[in-house]
Amino acid sequence: MKRIGILTAGGDTPALNATIAGAVVRANQLKVEIIGLIKGFNCLFNPRVPHVHLNPLYQEIPELDPTKGGTLIGSSRDYVDPDNKEGLDILESRLKKLGIEGLICIGGDGTLNGLQPIAERLPAVLAPKTIDNDLGLNYPSEPDEWARVNDTSAKSGYRYKRTTSNAVFDLDQIVNYATPGYATAVFVSAQGVERIRTTAESHRRIAIIEVMGRHSGYIALGTAYGRPDIILIPEQSLDLEHLVERVKHLYDLQKNVVIVCAEGMVDAQGNELGAETRSTDPSGNKILSGASEALGRKLIQMMGDKLFQNYRRAQSAREAIFIRKVGHTQRGGRPILFDRFHAAQLGGKAVELLLEGQNNVVATLQWSRSRGFHVSSFGANRFHDRWGHIHARYMHPSVYDPHLMKPSRTGIEYLLPIFTHAIGEDDMEHVRQTLFASGNLTQPYHSPNTDVNKRIRYLEGEIEAQVKSNGEAVAA
Ligand code: F6P
Repeated sequence: MKRIGILTAGGDTPALNATIAGAVVRANQLKVEIIGLIKGFNCLFNPRVPHVHLNPLYQEIPELDPTKGGTLIGSSRDYVDPDNKEGLDILESRLKKLGIEGLICIGGDGTLNGLQPIAERLPAVLAPKTIDNDLGLNYPSEPDEWARVNDTSAKSGYRYKRTTSNAVFDLDQIVNYATPGYATAVFVSAQGVERIRTTAESHRRIAIIEVMGRHSGYIALGTAYGRPDIILIPEQSLDLEHLVERVKHLYDLQKNVVIVCAEGMVDAQGNELGAETRSTDPSGNKILSGASEALGRKLIQMMGDKLFQNYRRAQSAREAIFIRKVGHTQRGGRPILFDRFHAAQLGGKAVELLLEGQNNVVATLQWSRSRGFHVSSFGANRFHDRWGHIHARYMHPSVYDPHLMKPSRTGIEYLLPIFTHAIGEDDMEHVRQTLFASGNLTQPYHSPNTDVNKRIRYLEGEIEAQVKSNGEAVAA
């Protein structure tokens, strides 16, 4: 294999450039060319097929900086339809025209689903990424635990449901222990929690902090490092009475409460608090927004104004309870050491897998008590349930204590290997040296997109055809 394509798909993470860099470094050693496909699968739906050569003469281009968040080749949430044979034929012919013999997709569970029909046409592997930490399995037999039940309200007429598990949960058995991007998202969120705490303390307030993660509670779980009082995760339905009782107790004791709420949390009926609008992104993922607002409304109603007036701490519950979202700050910026290092290793592993002649496999980050972290691989077919669907990983119930509303002992054991040495000295030194640099005040921001743009090439022939039919070229 002499030429590999690489793309980044789905929501970005701070560690994507690190994965690309890891792949390029390994490709340079093996004398393989790497072509970056611009904006994920969208590149292959665009007749111009915008792409960039990432290692001319087997040297990485200078714009590729593993310490910079985001992705220099762009990302999109475009969906590959396995039933669109014609579309797949076009996609295949475009990759062939580019001389691409194997494809690396950097993505999560949605990307792995999209990769399935592609892997029937040319060798393709996945290097994992997602801040949600939901690409993987709690144990190898987990896909067999899914059942499909009829549901007339669902578009397809059915929905997937977890059945009771017979497997023993053991940290050594986790397939893909953590995904690049997760550690940095927790780093940002936990800092946010710490910062909100002191202002809640000063003003005798109750803070609800919403973190991302879609239907996965891993980011919320990790914010335990910022020492919130309560963590609410989507995998455990909300017990409002227990929550209010706990909040009242803490408020009485310490005059402030900090609650972390995952954006995908569900009420006692299993409905997402944040999915009021029921809209979806292009890949069909439900857009979640509003969990913290919904929770805030419930708390305001259940706690009432009297309590705050009696304490002489606020005029009303509305004044005392406030909501903040960590938002996209947890998905951006410089990746911390854990993410950078392992993302690069996984990128390198993806190249090796293709060169070994493997197809439709996932490069994974494994952890065991005896070996610590190491990269390995896992066949994509083993992620499929019986109907061929790949599900996002559920956070295992044993890592959370629903009574304490915090990580359980097992949850703590899960977090420790990831975070104990996750921050590099250079991460903090970077802040010290760069944030208040005087040049920041005088020089405008220089986006790597500006430079990468100059390197973008298009598929000839396709452009001419497009120009003829449209009268003008389509932008990348
Ligand atoms: O999947 C990553 C993620 O950041 C989720 O945690 C979140 O729900 C979603 O993407 C947000 O997507 P967007 O950036 O498109 O709003």
